[in-house]
Parts: sequence; C-alpha cells; structure tokens
Amino acid sequence: MKWSSPRGTTDIYGEDIDYRNYIINTARKIFEVFNYSEIITPTFEYTQVFSRGIGESTDIVKKEMFTFPDKKGRSLTLRPEGTASITRAVIENKMYCGNMPLKLFYIGNMFRYERPQKGRMREFWQLGIEAIGTDNPFIDAEIIWILNLFFKKLGFKKLVFKVNSIGCSICRNKYLTDFKKYLKPEIKKLCNECQNRFKNNPLRIFDCKRNSCRSILTGMPEMSSYLCSECEKNFKEVLKCLKILKIKYRTDKNLVRGFDYYTRTIFEVISEDLQSAQNALGGGGRYDNLMNELGGPDIPATGFAVGIDRTMMLMKQLNLKFKKTGKKSRVYLIAMNRDYLIYSLNILKYLREMEVVCDINFEKRSLKKEIKWAKENNYDFIIIVGGDEIETGNLTIKDIKKFKQYKVDWINKKEKIMDIIGAKNYD
Ligand code: HAM
Repeated sequence: MKWSSPRGTTDIYGEDIDYRNYIINTARKIFEVFNYSEIITPTFEYTQVFSRGIGESTDIVKKEMFTFPDKKGRSLTLRPEGTASITRAVIENKMYCGNMPLKLFYIGNMFRYERPQKGRMREFWQLGIEAIGTDNPFIDAEIIWILNLFFKKLGFKKLVFKVNSIGCSICRNKYLTDFKKYLKPEIKKLCNECQNRFKNNPLRIFDCKRNSCRSILTGMPEMSSYLCSECEKNFKEVLKCLKILKIKYRTDKNLVRGFDYYTRTIFEVISEDLQSAQNALGGGGRYDNLMNELGGPDIPATGFAVGIDRTMMLMKQLNLKFKKTGKKSRVYLIAMNRDYLIYSLNILKYLREMEVVCDINFEKRSLKKEIKWAKENNYDFIIIVGGDEIETGNLTIKDIKKFKQYKVDWINKKEKIMDIIGAKNYD
C-alpha cells in the first residue's frame, strides 16, 4: 500500500522550511516592535466556540469544519481560524482585566474542509494579531500598518490593500433590509449558491465571481451611504491615519468577509500576481461584538491573519530572496576510513560543544564523492581526517566556498579551527 498525506495537507521540508522560518521571524520581530505578545491556544475547541463565534450561517461553519465527537460525545472542532479561539481564551483567563489594549499574536495551523487547489489547503498555516479593548480608529490603522510593513520587509512591492466599512450592527441591518428589497425581484437570476446566500448570508453574494451575479449587484445601494455618523467618522479617521502613514489602499465598497463577527473597518491584502481565485494573502477587521457574543464583557477588538503558505508560494513565484538570519558556518568532517571515526569523535565533540553546526560521514565513500555531497548540502568547510592527519595531529580544513586550504595543529591549537571557520562571532 502506498501512503499519501490526506487530501489538502502537505509535508513541509527543505527550502520551504527556510522560507517559513524567514516569514515567521520577520513577523515576530515586527510584532515585538509594536508591543504584541504571543498566545498559543489549543488546536481544537468545543464546536460552539466557532459556530457561535464565526456564525452558523457562514460557509465555514456550515460546510468547512472538521468536527468530531470525543469519547464522551462532546463535539470538538479543529480550529478553522484563530480569532474565535483567542476571544474564548481572553474571556476564560480574564485577560481583559489588565491594561488595554491587550495586544496578542499567534502562529498556528488551521483546518478548513475546502476544495483543495493551488493556494487553498485543508490544513494551512496562519500568523495573526488581535488588538483587544479599544475602538479607537488609530488601532485599525496600526494593524494595517503592521500588515503593510510585514509584506514590505518580505520584499513585496505590488500588493493591494482593500478597505471597507461594513458599519455597526445598526447601520448594517438597515442596509441589509434595503439590500434584500433590491435583490428580491432579481433572485431567480442569481446562481444557485447566491440564492442560498440570499437566504442565509446575503452580503456574501458580493463574493460571487460569476458575471451574471456581479452585474445584478452593480446598481445596488452602497453600504457607505448607510453608515451612521459614528461609523462614518470612525472610517474616515482610519483612512486619514493610513494617509499619514503613507499606506496605499483602495476603498472597495464590495469587500465583504466570510465571518459574521465583523463590524466597521474590514480589509484584505491581495496580490494580482497570484493568478488564482485564491489571491488574498491576508485579511481582517474589527469585531466589536464577538467578546460579548461568546459570553464575555462588551469589549471591542480588531485583528488580522496572514496565510503563511500563500505568502511563501508567492515569494517563490516572484523569486524574492532572503538571507538566513544568524547563519552559522557548516562544517563536514570526512573520516577517510571507518577506523578514523573514533579519532574524529573528539573533533566532533569539540565543535558541537562550541555550537558549530557540523556532521560527519558515517559510511565510507570516495573523497571526491564526499566533497561533492558537502557542496550540494551547503556546507562551508570540510575537515579531512585521514592517516596523515592522525599521525601528525594536523587536520586539513578546506574552505569549499572560497577554495582555500589550511593545516591546523589539532592537539595544541584547536581554537585556531574556530578562527578559520569564522565561528568567533557566534552569539
Ligand atoms: P481569513 O481571511 O479567513 O481570515 O484568513 C486569512 C488568510 O489565511 C487568508 O487571506 C489566506 O491567505 C489564508 N487562508 C485562508 N484559508 C486558506 C486555505 N484554505 N488555504 C490556504 N490559506 C488560507 C481569518 O482567518 C480571520 N480570523 C482574520 C482575522 C483576525 N480577523 C480578525 N482577526
């Protein structure tokens, strides 16, 4: 039987690990600068955290959750996103009792039972932040600022930031009433999926990519003209801050998001280089009622999440380069004979205790093959341990990137190895 990983999941290894680490480290540094601290929540929650948090009528809750009973029959769900879990954690641990805003970030795998395609997985990775405890528009601008800085540091140049305000529940309900009134005579012209959306989650009709549905929406009343004065003022202030921060954005009156918890400012960052429907690298927005809906105090919040896999995919596609941070010299020991392995053990012990990244050949192959292998595997230096070396105590060190060779008195001057391999600057 040939095993494969379950549909929509993947193994991450090799160069992809370097990309991932770079993406995550870049985010961590920025989060620290903006005073966010890390939170880790369980990979699964009681199902209600998501069904109540995200909304029963959303696609995610209706069709995409990995839900299963535990041995006592309690319904559990693998997290499809981080916001609802973090809100649950903040309430449960009374984290709202300290200084506000509470600024949290997370990195984790998420699970959605979607139809897999390029950039859309059933298990995928997100990094994100949640700023809890203020409805000041400055913080909405701050999180878009973080997102913008993050992608800039990764080397992206042509990303588009779409922003919109969907108002508070009062102005949105007024809009929804008129939206339904407008669409009712056209309902038969909508695709099947949008006819369902009309019943369950009408604003999601804006997500439909079909021209027939889109053309029906062109004459629609605009949400912006339904914003109450508070929501309008709030949104204008967010945009004003973005201008001051020189963040380029596009207001998109058709932007909606797939979670019921959103209020007021929502946003998405998309790449026109990702030529698939899955062109959103990240998204988020304000969710002022979620804390209360999950049984906590009435505390406003906002946040975003970025898809790590999609970000990595686009970095590779655009050939965006990065330097590995804290790169250490890599040393490969070649024992020319199996008997020399014992002698090499002391050298290996010394180097590893000095925190030098090193390894040794376990099987005997020709020197030529070993050097070729060391080059292919990105080693910087090789140390040869042969009969001569053992007899004289002088090791041969080859710098395989700069084509230089050294002899070092291993018995009396072992620290010289550290000079040669540039390991003195290790932190
Ligand atoms: P989301 O837009 O559903 O938002 O996901 C954020 C990002 O995760 C997407 O832009 C995309 O890059 C990535 N993503 C989503 N689904 C998949 C998938 N099936 N395969 C690969 N990547 C995917 C949220 O999750 C909200 N919790 C964001 C938020 C935080 N809002 C407020 N705070």
